[in-house]
Amino acid sequence: MKINENYQKLPGSYLFSTISKKVKAFQKEHPEKEIIRLGIGDVTLPIVPAVIKALHQAVDEMGNASTFHGYAPDLGYPFLRETIAREDYEKRGCDVKADEIFISDGAKSDCGNIQELFGPEARIAVCDPVYPVYVDSNVMAGRAGEYDPSSGIWSKVIYLPCTRENRFVPGLPKETPDMIYLCNPSNPTGTAMTGKQLKVWVDYANEHDAVILYDAAYEAYISDREVPHSIYEVEGAKTCAIEFRSFSKNAGFTGMRLGFTVVPKELSFGGASLHDMWARRHGTKYNGAPYIQQKAGMAVYSQEGRRELAEQVAYYMRNARTIAQGLEEAGYEVAGGVNSPYVWLHTGKLTSWEFFDRLLENAQVVGTPGSGFGPSGEHYFRLTGFGTYENTVKAIERIKTYG
Ligand code: MLT
Repeated sequence: MKINENYQKLPGSYLFSTISKKVKAFQKEHPEKEIIRLGIGDVTLPIVPAVIKALHQAVDEMGNASTFHGYAPDLGYPFLRETIAREDYEKRGCDVKADEIFISDGAKSDCGNIQELFGPEARIAVCDPVYPVYVDSNVMAGRAGEYDPSSGIWSKVIYLPCTRENRFVPGLPKETPDMIYLCNPSNPTGTAMTGKQLKVWVDYANEHDAVILYDAAYEAYISDREVPHSIYEVEGAKTCAIEFRSFSKNAGFTGMRLGFTVVPKELSFGGASLHDMWARRHGTKYNGAPYIQQKAGMAVYSQEGRRELAEQVAYYMRNARTIAQGLEEAGYEVAGGVNSPYVWLHTGKLTSWEFFDRLLENAQVVGTPGSGFGPSGEHYFRLTGFGTYENTVKAIERIKTYG
């Protein structure tokens, strides 16, 4: 029996599992200490009333023979696909049709699975630092080459450094990639590219026959009018970009699971339609997001849902501002926190993991070491605005005093 040896190449465990293990060990040693978790970007506010109401109704429907739903359509219920097409795209002037929208259990799975559509030799380009799923899923598929533990670099991955030197905006690569992952607003740096900056990438992808894999999971946090909510707001994107969206961050569905991916019909390479391939994959490997979740997703677009969720976003952004301002007052160099709930700080002379340990030991605050997101993340650290306001204030006070 031969296993997929690419898995053996993956260093350690998934970033957030490593952090969770470290925190558990610390808590075991110091059971009296109260730990504040601003590490993983998990939400803390409960699901809003409009969505809870929709969930209850959907559950009742499932208990009645005349309204019961079995297998969901594998690409998503038309009611949700049509609503998304209208509310997220048509209203922003984007030409995205309901049948180009594929409902799923979340952006993480789709970001991980999308690489199946591309050949084993396809080269990937990623921002550095980057959400680890993009790289790890390509390692599993054998597309990343060999790992050099001393530099944290995969031999076949094209890295696009995003550091304070380039204000966290990736520059075009020297080598030509086939797949370009862009997360905007960025996880982890919390910074965002404007439409003008994205246009450079769209033109580049169209010229070089590359595909942009655009993760827009944090679009609800955009406040800057120059930053588009969808890549399809950028002219030319329909012939080169796939977009991932999530209900986790805009509606608190991290524990419920719902997302969608847009694969435009125009997207074809060598006569093969990526839209048809993704539909084929979805139909074969996925039995559709549950009816209950999709009804909950509908409530996100209701008037009541929108109002309640805007309040949640404002709550988390107040946290992000509190973190950014507090850190600046404490003398840290800070990015993000304006179009994103993530704040990215420079750790000075300390490495990211040294800073992690110091913060945990001295202040009992958990964040995410920047180097876990890629080599250019070294000497940076991420804090999230997804905690409670009270804990956020407390965490910043502790960092100012002991950090
Ligand atoms: C993060 O902390 O980067 C995110 O919560 C991870 C995710 O969305 O899967």
